[in-house]
Amino acid sequence: MRILMVSSEVVPFAKAGGLGDMVGALAAELARQGHDVRVVLPRYYSVDPGRLRRLEAPLGVPMGYEEEWCGVATAKLPGTGVTVYFLDHQELFGRDGIYGTRSGPEFNDNLRRFTLLSRGALQLAKMLGWTPDVVHAHDWPAALVPVYLNTLERDGVFGATGSVLTIHNLAHQGIFPKQELGHTLLGWEHFHGAGLEHYDRVNLLQAGLRNADMLTTVSPTYAREIQTPELGERLDGLLRHRAADLVGVLNGIDYRLWDPADDPHLPAGFSADDLDGKAACKRALQQAMGLEAEAGTPLFAMVSRLVEQKGFGELCGPTHGSLYNICAELEVQFVILGTGEAWCEAELASLSSRLPNLAVDLEFNEPLSHLIMAGADFLLVPSVFEPCGLTQMYAMRYGTLPIVRRTGGLADTVTSYDEATGEGTGFAFDLLTPSSIYNTVGWALWTWHNRPEHVAAMQQRAMAERFSWEASAARYVEVYRGAVDRRAGRVTRTW
Ligand code: ADP
Ligand code: GLC
Repeated sequence: MRILMVSSEVVPFAKAGGLGDMVGALAAELARQGHDVRVVLPRYYSVDPGRLRRLEAPLGVPMGYEEEWCGVATAKLPGTGVTVYFLDHQELFGRDGIYGTRSGPEFNDNLRRFTLLSRGALQLAKMLGWTPDVVHAHDWPAALVPVYLNTLERDGVFGATGSVLTIHNLAHQGIFPKQELGHTLLGWEHFHGAGLEHYDRVNLLQAGLRNADMLTTVSPTYAREIQTPELGERLDGLLRHRAADLVGVLNGIDYRLWDPADDPHLPAGFSADDLDGKAACKRALQQAMGLEAEAGTPLFAMVSRLVEQKGFGELCGPTHGSLYNICAELEVQFVILGTGEAWCEAELASLSSRLPNLAVDLEFNEPLSHLIMAGADFLLVPSVFEPCGLTQMYAMRYGTLPIVRRTGGLADTVTSYDEATGEGTGFAFDLLTPSSIYNTVGWALWTWHNRPEHVAAMQQRAMAERFSWEASAARYVEVYRGAVDRRAGRVTRTW
């Protein structure tokens, strides 16, 4: 199939979280399975133009008040035949940051920026004379693509092009004042008619969910959860209405980039058969983070955006968080790598200055994230909600046992320890409170000291798990066919 992916992140060019990993890995696997996949991404300031090949002709993109012109450059997704097209627009993308900066997490011209991406992707396909069978849009930044396909681009070259929208995180919807609608070139008749209106504002994700032929999200459990008022983020009604077109497909991980036997970021490689290298990684990690190099002290870690979603309210809320008690009362070492909200960074910096066994690194550091996966004994992921979550899967691959809240993709990927049989691949808990996090960490610690044979067996089992993209990409192809059928009217859409 001819598949056009539109995304604000693609590894290795741009990544703020798991979205970038997912899009890069899915595109690579679809190409491996023989599909013609092309990806469109903004040329952020951080993408070195020296690594790209520039196309001769500039691209004109009709936007609200005038036509915007952008340059187009290309590169291959490393190790694949997939072409990535970069839309180069100095005013909108020639600055630091994907969505915003540390001081202001959202740029105030994001509607224009991501309108350019969505509309530009379709204009680009026209300019190339390459008509996709299906367009696969990711999250709110690309959610206007299915809206255009149903409105301004309803007929003509895209008349048979199906659309799929994947929800990576329902909490981020791309909400803007309605006065900005003009930037999208969609007239007021579409504000209500195309489902853009949400509580009198423009909601891009909602509009995408109304217009895409098929919807997916990144785990089966999250696909069910978002249809409930608890996790539906005020779109659960719409999602229940479209339940027949909504599919949960579990993300895989890219085993070429995450292989402990062959990882350029590690001082020593290791595998399930020979774990010696893991001990060397633990020493290197302790050294890098300024912790005592003690092999016998269990090392707990987190690699995460520092936001409420990831459980930081319960971990380090200033008055009641459990991280202080974990580090002050238990004989453990704790490493956290992350960037995020200012309150959380400040609280973690303050805690680590008081606790010698807590080491915090407040930066985005890909090599260090690999060393942490390899060198830690346990990875903590106590999320409020988690559409899929990738770090628990990376941890398992590296023989590091995940400790997770049973929600979304965490529930679909980690089997909790059974003390009676020794079964499991990690530790899971249900209720999210400071004390449940503390108690589950305590449970893992007790098991480490008192049931080392169970810990060793779980480690083997975790390393043997395969969250491969092969099956999930094939599932996406079925979804793409479903989208094409709905577009052609062979199957009735639910909206
Ligand atoms: P989310 O997309 O919600 O942030 P995921 O678990 O799906 O959660 O993906 C997070 C990705 O970002 C993982 O690849 C993780 O290793 C990476 N990551 C998060 N924070 C950092 C950081 N500070 N440095 C390096 N990698 C990070
Ligand atoms: C989102 C989710 C995360 C998921 C990732 C990739 O950022 O928060 O759970 O793993 O997208 O799909």
